[in-house]
Amino acid sequence: MIELKNISFNYKNNAALKDVNILIRQGECVALVGPNGSGKSTFLKILNGILIPNEGEYIFNEEYITSKKLENSKFSKLFHKKIGFVFQNSDAQLFCSTVYEEIAFGPRQIGLKEEEVNKRVYDCMKLLQIEELKHREPYNLSGGEKKKVAIASVLSLNPEVLVLDEPMNGIDPKGKKFLRDFLIKLNESGKTIICSTHDFEYVQGVFKRALVFSENHTIIRDDSFNKVINDELFLQQNNIK
Ligand SMILES: Nc1ncnc2c1ncn2[C@@H]1O[C@H](COP(=O)(O)OP(=O)(O)O)[C@@H](O)[C@H]1O
Ligand SMILES: [Mg+2]
Repeated sequence: MIELKNISFNYKNNAALKDVNILIRQGECVALVGPNGSGKSTFLKILNGILIPNEGEYIFNEEYITSKKLENSKFSKLFHKKIGFVFQNSDAQLFCSTVYEEIAFGPRQIGLKEEEVNKRVYDCMKLLQIEELKHREPYNLSGGEKKKVAIASVLSLNPEVLVLDEPMNGIDPKGKKFLRDFLIKLNESGKTIICSTHDFEYVQGVFKRALVFSENHTIIRDDSFNKVINDELFLQQNNIK
């Protein structure tokens, strides 16, 4: 479903990713782990077409994703409907005046009828348990509430793949438990999930596979999530824990 071949990315003269080769299949639940600055967010932004690699190829559902194709608004809308991105910083994602409008934005953008939009908004609010926030301003919500709204606003497009950048950051323990159970259910329902995280304690049972990023901006290990997080020596040697 997702294939990266010899991908490298630099921010001007700063290397952020070096020669990444990865295949992710439909229905997988993959964690990205690694120290700060190792390239996890850059990797996720490439998957979502926010950044275009300097080198290498990105293939999504057998289609080469290029800057030229993404400039085509029809292609871009279709691509973003299939792969949704939950930003690390919810404030960068939320811009509407109410929670309802926020979740309705994507479905309206792709031209769904208002009746279908309404149904999707209610389904997503129910899934995230945020019905009572419907009329609130996203800006004034707590961090955990914002994260739920951001996730709902991405899920309302019914993407095949959900990409999340450190979703547990700044969330209280109850919110983290909710997110954990939510990610498990979502994956069980068939969605492919790709998520960066530091929060090993709160993601037990979520991920089957881990991609480990190094300070050198390469992927140094692609293995079972449980094996990786129980390998204390490996985690310490690579400044992950
Ligand atoms: N906008 C940017 N401009 C310049 N360098 C950046 C920018 N964003 C990230 N970097 C650098 O790219 C590298 C990878 O960053 P990032 O992908 O954010 O890592 P992670 O998400 O693993 O913390 C780091 O060295 C970081 O300093
Ligand atoms: Mg990051």
